[in-house]
Order: sequence, then structure tokens, then C-alpha cells
Amino acid sequence: MDHYIIRGKRRLSGELTVQGAKNSLLPVLAAVVLTDGKSLIRNAPDLTDTESAVCILRELGCSVVRQGRDLLIDPSNLSSAEISPTLCRSMRSSVVFLGPLLARCQKAVLSLPGGCRLGERPIDLHLAGLTKMGAEILWEDDRLICTAPAGLKGAEITMPFPSVGATENLMMAAALAKGTTLLTGCAKEPEIVDLAAFLNRCGARIEGSGSTVMRITGADRLSGCAYSIMGDRIAAMTYLIAAAMTGGDLTLRGIDPRHLAQPLQKLSGTGKILSVGKDFCRIAGTVPPKSIPMIATGPYPAFPTDCLPLFLSLAAVSQGTSVFWERVFENRYASCGDLAKMGAVIYRSERAAAIRGSHLHGAAVSAQDLRGGAGLVLAALAAEGTTTVSNIAWIERGYERFCETLSDLGAEIRKE
Ligand code: UD1
Repeated sequence: MDHYIIRGKRRLSGELTVQGAKNSLLPVLAAVVLTDGKSLIRNAPDLTDTESAVCILRELGCSVVRQGRDLLIDPSNLSSAEISPTLCRSMRSSVVFLGPLLARCQKAVLSLPGGCRLGERPIDLHLAGLTKMGAEILWEDDRLICTAPAGLKGAEITMPFPSVGATENLMMAAALAKGTTLLTGCAKEPEIVDLAAFLNRCGARIEGSGSTVMRITGADRLSGCAYSIMGDRIAAMTYLIAAAMTGGDLTLRGIDPRHLAQPLQKLSGTGKILSVGKDFCRIAGTVPPKSIPMIATGPYPAFPTDCLPLFLSLAAVSQGTSVFWERVFENRYASCGDLAKMGAVIYRSERAAAIRGSHLHGAAVSAQDLRGGAGLVLAALAAEGTTTVSNIAWIERGYERFCETLSDLGAEIRKE
């Protein structure tokens, strides 16, 4: 199995245009199922999760051609509404195909990956909303069989928690349902706004994306379109923190810094020099970072849970003590054991942690999940000596050419 070998203490500097957003691309690829014409999806990052979504589309009967970062998709021969268990398991987000398949084919058959390393990840909110729209749900062991014999119809749905995946599934289902859907308690993440923009360009009528209430008027049919995926705000933060932890000077392009207001504010709270423009962000400063102002994760626009493990690593090399409170997932601290192996001083309770900055040293560590794994790479970049990070398949689900990109910026990293 591949691993990264990293020799720390090299400054990361230069310019980088950040990859397209994984969490935007995956629902957009699922949304293509709702359409009956060709779509050209631009700025699609080349990731293992992208490959899984492409395999799902092909299994459903769509044709998909990749040319560099463009994906040309033709769903006109869509012939199946079933996703095989192996493909479902290869990517947790396969659940975002549920709403689109049900709306387009009146049927969707999926297997669910169940609990994952971030803790239990139920889909009760997805199912409750779809049921209100007329879906019938049947479980056969871990196989989920959803049907809508009379088609989906618009409904008034209130979500008790602003789940990103449930909001996406329900807005996609509503885009082809009969009548109007009023969705309240929606997630407001920028990726939801990106998905709505794609769907509206295909002819959908979705109002209010990015706010708590969305009004969706079902269309008879949706066409394809050409659409460019937004920049990945979590990957952007990863590279900015890498520069911050190594005393580098990095300019990132291809992101809207307003999407990162909270994490950027925390980063500048460490004393780093941040300059922010309309579509770029620069971090500089060779002085070691000070402790991070307290972080409490939450649904957008609060601090993103995906950024927490990245900031854990930053805290491990900052001067003073930083405090964290995870409020979205049960287990966001999987990297802490390995950080401690590298010399980090960590006090933990179930959902909270305090980290006192120290000097990190190289060790043999192992990624347990995507962002925790990226956090370990950040720690390795700032550590004295050599670190081996194993289980990097987790990391490569979300970072395009991670090793090469870090190396281009000045890191000493290789993959073996
Ligand atoms: C998405 C992102 C993930 C990010 C997360 C939160 C993608 C592919 N993934 O995941 O990177 O960390 O948003 O920003 O976009 N919940 C329920 N019932 C449900 C659905 C969710 O209880 O039906 C709970 C979950 O257990 C979790 C919380 O709601 O505690 C947030 O989950 P959700 O917003 O749905 O995250 P995902 O869409 O899975």
C-alpha cells in the first residue's frame, strides 16, 4: 500500500490555483441523472471519489468522457436505477444519487455504507423528506429500495438539522417533482449554492439557495448544460495552513475567500499576515504562529467541521494552548493519537480538545480518514525529521495530486 515519506521543516511558498470542490462536484454529477441532455462539467478534480461517481454514472447507463479536468456526460441512455453494493461502498456520497434517481426513474436501489469513521451517519432526514414527497421505502437487509409509483410531488418539508446531504437530495428530487416544494431548515453551504446554480442552468426553478428556506418549483424536464465547479474551500485551507505551519508565503487563487470567513479569521488570529482579494488569498509571515482563538464547528457559516483536523495540527506547533469543540460529527479527533506520537501535547474529552503547542518530530503515522490524514501530512511538513504517513488512499479521495502539489510548493515529500 502507498504511503508518503515527508522530511519536514521546508518552507512552502509560491502560487497555486486550487482544485475544484469535491463536495460540489459529487452532487452535481448525481444531478446529471435528472437531465436528458449532455452536460460539460468543468474544473472537475481528478480524485478517487470522482472516479467512483463516474463508475456509478456508467453503471446507470450514462456515457462519461474525461478530457483533462472536463467531464462530458450524456445521460440520454440512462437505463438503470440500481447502484451495485460495491460501488455504493466505494463512496459514502453515493447516497446523493437517491433523490435524483427517484425523481427521474420513480425508483432507486442503493446499499448504504452505514456508520463511518466520523461516527454514525444516518440518512433519516433524507428518507423523511422523500417520504413526504410520495416515496415508499423498503429495506432488504442493507439494500434500500425506494419507489415513487405515482411520481414525486411537491411538499412542505422542515429539516430539524441543516444536513448538507439531505438538503442536496431533497432539492434535486424537488427539481423534477410535480408542484412546489418548500424546504425549511436547509443547509447553507456554498456547495449547495453551486448545485442550485447548476440545476437552474439546466432549467430548474430553485429559489433561496444559501438561505434557510428554499422554494423549488418542479420542472417537466431538465436539459444538460456547461458548468464550472467552484474552488475547493477545504483544500484551499489545507494549503494555507501548510504555508502557515512552515513559515512560508503562499498565494492561492480560484477560491472565494468569503466562503472561508471563519477559518481565515482563526488563521489570522495566530498572527499570520493574510491578504484577501475577490478570488485570491495570500498568507505570509515567518514568525511562529500564536495559539488559535477557540474553534467550535457548526453548519455554515460557522466553522467547517472538515477544517477542524487541519487546525489541530496547526495548534500542535503554535505557541500557547488552543481549544476545540466539535459539534457536527462524533469522531473528528482520529488524528490525535498519531499527533501525540509526533510530540503533540493533547488533552481530550469526547467532543472537545485542548492542544498545547510544542516541537513535533517525525514518526510512522497512519491516516484514519480524509481530513485527519491531511492534518497528519501538515504536521509532518512542520516536524523535525522524517515522517511516514500510511493509508494515504483516504487522503487521495479528496486531494488532487497532493504529493506533487506540495512538492511544487517546496515540500520534501515522495510517494512510495
Ligand atoms: C457533508 C460533506 C462533509 C462535511 C459535512 C458537514 C459531502 C460529500 N460531504 O457530509 O465533507 O463534513 O457535510 O459539513 O458534501 N445527520 C442526521 N441525519 C441525516 C443526515 C445527517 O442525523 O439524515 C447528521 C449526521 O450524522 C451529522 C450531521 O447531521 O452528525 C451533519 O451531516 P451532513 O450535513 O448530512 O453531512 P454530509 O452531507 O454527510
